[in-house]
Amino acid sequence: MYDIKSFKIKKDPIILGIESSCDETACAVIKGRAVLSDEIISSAAVQAKYGGVVPEIASRAHTDAIDEVAVRALSVAGISPAQVDAVAVTYGAGLLGALLVGLSFAKSFAYALNVPLLAVNHIRGHMAAAYLDNPALKPPFVTLLASGGHTAIFHTVDYDRAEVLASTCDDAAGEAFDKVARVLLLPYPGGPNVQRTAQGGMADINFPSALVKHGDGRTFSYSGLKTAVINYCHTASQKGVEINPADVAASFQKAAIEPLVAKTVGCALSLNVDTVTAGGGVIANDYLRTRLAEECKKNNLTLVLPEKRRCTDNAAMIASEGLNMYLRGEFACMSVNACASLPLAPAKRI
Ligand code: KG4
Ligand code: ZN
Repeated sequence: MYDIKSFKIKKDPIILGIESSCDETACAVIKGRAVLSDEIISSAAVQAKYGGVVPEIASRAHTDAIDEVAVRALSVAGISPAQVDAVAVTYGAGLLGALLVGLSFAKSFAYALNVPLLAVNHIRGHMAAAYLDNPALKPPFVTLLASGGHTAIFHTVDYDRAEVLASTCDDAAGEAFDKVARVLLLPYPGGPNVQRTAQGGMADINFPSALVKHGDGRTFSYSGLKTAVINYCHTASQKGVEINPADVAASFQKAAIEPLVAKTVGCALSLNVDTVTAGGGVIANDYLRTRLAEECKKNNLTLVLPEKRRCTDNAAMIASEGLNMYLRGEFACMSVNACASLPLAPAKRI
């Protein structure tokens, strides 16, 4: 009989993390905050043929890969299934069919071994990646989250509490990178290709800032910025004028990222918080990493940036948030279901 009330909490548990919310099938093993393995099988190359993620293809690819990636993660970590103390898995937000593959696998694993199941919110996973790079990191801090599905700045008050300080009212930053890549005829995934194209470009085209100008000062809009880039390219093409993709990419990148950096630092200063962290695929962007580091240094803020491969989707970050939940005894029932969308967190006005 699987009884979540019967589980004891260990210090430095061995946690198997599982992530399958989009196009990466990922498994990792951590012991305490030490990452013993972090394996990924991606369907991105197949998805690239369609210019984006096709949900049905993603689900099938997860089904093909999940067993292999789990075996790999355990073997690289040198851990037998019987040594696993808990299983952490993404239950949302993400593509429903894709999530169900990882969630069902995790449930079976936890049930068979009679260990706790930890149902992790993907966004909280991205935010917990920073703990892996700096195990001494402790809340409170300000977190910049920028991925393909979400863009927000949080006050991470404690391990179990974060409040939204600013967020996008439409597209996410990563989504805008992907759409601008399409206009510039760059392949999927767009973010890294826009960054590469921007190298050597002049950021001298005046695209609107991603921070809404006449709003409450805490709202980003990436749809407006994306449309401005699309209009710029279409107008040039109608006039028969050739655009310089490097200049367009560099100007877009600057307009997309500068407001995120400025607002994040501004939030930390107004809250009198001395540490800034970040997570999500867009945080792998070199321009963002450099600018955030410069501004934090200028303002005497400590910056904890996860390494680039822990910014994009991975299972070590899911295990890391799983550890926070494990230590609180926040165990899931076998009936836990996948959720395509989850609320970010309550808002906080500063
Ligand atoms: O966190 P993530 O791997 O998946 C989601 O949870 O959405 O983020 C993926 C997003 C994509 O939109 C991708 O284009 C963007 O992160 N991304 C980047 C870079 N690497 C990934 N955006 C800008 N620059 C990058 N180097
Ligand atoms: Zn993600």
